[in-house]
Amino acid sequence: MCGIIGYIGKKQVAPILIAGLRRLEYRGYDSAGICVLENNNLETIKKRGHIAELEQELNSREVLGTIGIAHTRWATHGEPNETNAHPHYDCTGNISIIHNGIIENFQSLKKLLESEGHKFVSETDSEVLAHLIEKFYSSDIESAVIKALKQVEGTFGLAVLCKNEEKIIVARRGSPLIIGVGEDEVFVASDASAILEYTKKVIYLKDNELAILSRDNYEIKNLDGVVSDFEIQEIKWSLDEIEKVGFKHFMLKEIFEQPRSIENTLRGRINGGKIKLSLNFNPKSINRIIITACGTSWHSALIGKYLIEKIAKIPVEVDYASEFRYRDPIIRSDDLFVVISQSGETADTLAALRQATVCETLGIVNVVGSTISREVKSGIYLHAGPEIGVASTKAFTCQVTAIILLALYIRQELGMDIDQRLVEEFIAIPEKIKIILDKSEKIKELSYNFTDAKNFLYLGRGVNFPVALEGALKLKEISYIHAEGYPAAEMKHGPIALIDENMFVVFIVNKGEIFEKVVSNMQEVKARGGKIICITDCPEEEMIKKLSSFIITVPETHEELSPLINVIPLQLMSYFVADAKGINVDKPRNLAKSVTVE
Ligand code: F6R
Repeated sequence: MCGIIGYIGKKQVAPILIAGLRRLEYRGYDSAGICVLENNNLETIKKRGHIAELEQELNSREVLGTIGIAHTRWATHGEPNETNAHPHYDCTGNISIIHNGIIENFQSLKKLLESEGHKFVSETDSEVLAHLIEKFYSSDIESAVIKALKQVEGTFGLAVLCKNEEKIIVARRGSPLIIGVGEDEVFVASDASAILEYTKKVIYLKDNELAILSRDNYEIKNLDGVVSDFEIQEIKWSLDEIEKVGFKHFMLKEIFEQPRSIENTLRGRINGGKIKLSLNFNPKSINRIIITACGTSWHSALIGKYLIEKIAKIPVEVDYASEFRYRDPIIRSDDLFVVISQSGETADTLAALRQATVCETLGIVNVVGSTISREVKSGIYLHAGPEIGVASTKAFTCQVTAIILLALYIRQELGMDIDQRLVEEFIAIPEKIKIILDKSEKIKELSYNFTDAKNFLYLGRGVNFPVALEGALKLKEISYIHAEGYPAAEMKHGPIALIDENMFVVFIVNKGEIFEKVVSNMQEVKARGGKIICITDCPEEEMIKKLSSFIITVPETHEELSPLINVIPLQLMSYFVADAKGINVDKPRNLAKSVTVE
């Protein structure tokens, strides 16, 4: 969602804020703004559009000062324009705020404040915070913020400046905020990438905490003003990991990083054919697994259902987190509740997790220190490194890797043998992905055939059905081509009506038990004029050659591991189609990297 950065120290703040916003831009990019405090004066500059617009404006004027806050927006209330962009002022212009999250009772608060004479200029829910703080302000900004937040329902990651006080007040409920600790300087940011070039020492603010940042000090309190304990942690990511290092887009870089990121997920977790995970529950006491997630992470969850049931023989239920939280779900004490989330901050996934109070919980999360990672009882970190491209790629393959590890671990702990050929193949996956990546130029050429396409179907069976869903999601979110994923056999129950010579149909076909069945589905498509793109490990098969208009060959592997291989050409194809259409794939329209609102 939106991104926040703030700085207080001795350096000129405007370049720090702009650099931070650039790194946060992937979180939201419809408008941006900064506010700088200098000599009891607040100066605000806001622009609609990408950070580059704001930067251009700043190049044309001098904004001096060593304290400031900045925000990049992903609109929830009010269209993207300069007025609705953050920071927002109170009526006096003495208080400036930036906010992530949603103020749920903003309508009633706004009505009340208007009846007391406050004048609102934007359509946002956030502006209410500036006026509410103004209402309680006499001479101490900290206590005004505390009083204001007591009136607020909803979520916030908030940073506040007051022109009379050389400090930044920040507070969090539901929207992530971290404090970066430097030498005679303190930062606040919605995620670590914004401040990584200045400091690796961070404090993860907890829900209902407030921090008072001054040039050489910081204090953490709860929302009643009582001082809280905190821990300074070290960020493990390097600067290189958040740069494009020669790639045109982060998404392409992250696709190419997958051999390494999967190795990182595996590192230290397979030893002498045994699976090593330090989890705080005994698999023998688990009778059912429930997995909840959203979007791409939900596709990983669905792969988890196929694989955990097959490998570990425990029943698995998979739910969209957004549905789970509102449907009186039955959770038992002998369930294992698994949440999968790259960011560890997705609002619906977090809310679903918070319902699982009676059972063991496990998070499969990438961002270290994120809210989900702190609230689960056990966790498997992906160690995929930061994922900046809005369309998830390396997080997906690392999630699937973590799920396979989990399935094998449970099987092992339940006393069943582990197929060592599967383990060997598992370790070989990064090398096999490299073989596909080496063919990316060919996939690029092939992708140019699809830039004018209007519709795609993606079909796969078994553990590759979720891969079909993921392929379709990747294509639609970055190329804006309509695409749907289905289990191949399900096509006959409806989607077949759509097939004509303008329909491209991607089939995922591997050798194995259901090969013939999928080939029959291909024949049904071909008979209706559909154009088949075949992702396969058996391109030499006569029927594959006969039925396909395009073939992408992938290395053979164990069926259980095949999603890790089959998804790679689908990611590349989506990327090349979108790039050829001139779309900025790292910032697809209307999307945000981390969905911290419902
Ligand atoms: C799609 C994509 C999203 C996320 C979803 C969940 O490419 O990235 O669908 O997978 O928003 O996000 P996390 O995994 O952070 O909970």
